[in-house]
Amino acid sequence: MQVLRVLNSSFNQHGAALIASLLRAKPNANLVIATGNTPMGVYDELAKLKLQGELDSSSLHAFQLDAYADVPLSDPRSLQGWSRRSFVEPLGLAEKQFTPLIGYSDNHERACQSYHDAVIKAGGYDLAILGLGPNGHLGFNEPPSSKTSTTRVISLTEESLISNAVYWGRGNVPTQALTAGMDLLLAAKQILLLVTGKHKYEILQKTLYGAITPEVPSSYLQASQHVMVLADEAALGS
Ligand code: F6R
Repeated sequence: MQVLRVLNSSFNQHGAALIASLLRAKPNANLVIATGNTPMGVYDELAKLKLQGELDSSSLHAFQLDAYADVPLSDPRSLQGWSRRSFVEPLGLAEKQFTPLIGYSDNHERACQSYHDAVIKAGGYDLAILGLGPNGHLGFNEPPSSKTSTTRVISLTEESLISNAVYWGRGNVPTQALTAGMDLLLAAKQILLLVTGKHKYEILQKTLYGAITPEVPSSYLQASQHVMVLADEAALGS
């Protein structure tokens, strides 16, 4: 695991540069893309690189990371909608370059299985772009999640309901979600964990140096060689 400490003012550029360099080496890379607050500026910078002709996004493939259960695409809370607005559209991806994790079907187990099969058929993720949940969740792999947990439906913990209320309002956060499994995420050829802000300090310390435990799903990253943690000074403590 490699930890890169950067100034908050250059965080987005650093994140975008790391992703762009992977795409230069492998233009048809499979990326799984987190939503949430942290990666938004990084995605904006990536879109700028594309506009400047410094990034070719014509053959990459993006996979949605997680989805709220029973929230239709038309709902502003849809994570598929958010993935499209923040990444798929600004990077000009064609429909066939994006695989959603569908949270609004009548059979969530089947949706999880078909997403899993699509990732495996594509050869797995080349790069997982992840944010860090306040309770150590990756995607919606809520604690406890083992390193072999699969793509599945999961109930959100109280902590996630509270942190996501920032976006949707208290009492308005869906209570269940579908998430790409820890098995797929930890098998990614590279993982980029993006972390900013003082409020992530304690969970980042646990992630980097704490016990490796299902109670902190992000702690499994310690055991992987291919993890880059990009964090600002506030998240790492100065
Ligand atoms: C988002 C996701 C979540 C977030 C995490 C951090 O698709 O899967 O795991 O990455 O909750 O969220 P922010 O970046 O808003 O602090």
